[in-house]
Amino acid sequence: MSSDDPAPGPPSPLSGLGKQSTTEPPPGEGAWENAASLADLPPGKVMEVVIGTTVIALAHAEGAIFAIDGICAHQGGPLGKARLEGCQLTCPWHGWQYDLATGKQLLSRTIAQRVFSTRVVGDTIQVRLPPIG
Ligand code: FES
Repeated sequence: MSSDDPAPGPPSPLSGLGKQSTTEPPPGEGAWENAASLADLPPGKVMEVVIGTTVIALAHAEGAIFAIDGICAHQGGPLGKARLEGCQLTCPWHGWQYDLATGKQLLSRTIAQRVFSTRVVGDTIQVRLPPIG
């Protein structure tokens, strides 16, 4: 292993700090989209961003950046305004809770929000949305 090799273990969305992909996305994957400034999302915060027509809840939790569908599967509550505890979001309208990493609702594991890949390039949080169509 050279000194340029990444540390073993799962990749962190923050590990891309200062790096930028110059390759096109693989077939079936969308392009990276700028979502927010890292300075606007300090640890422990969740915020709502809209990219095109997609509403996303962006969260900085436990050392990583997560992106999850921002419209609650129950009745459309704003998950970008949810309460964040650890890696769990609690919808502000009726309290449904979601795991940020999987998007799964915590009581009924058959209900799941879409989750999106994230990375940080410089001070910019990017989200990869699926391609349109
Ligand atoms: S709309 Fe989210 S829990 Fe009801």
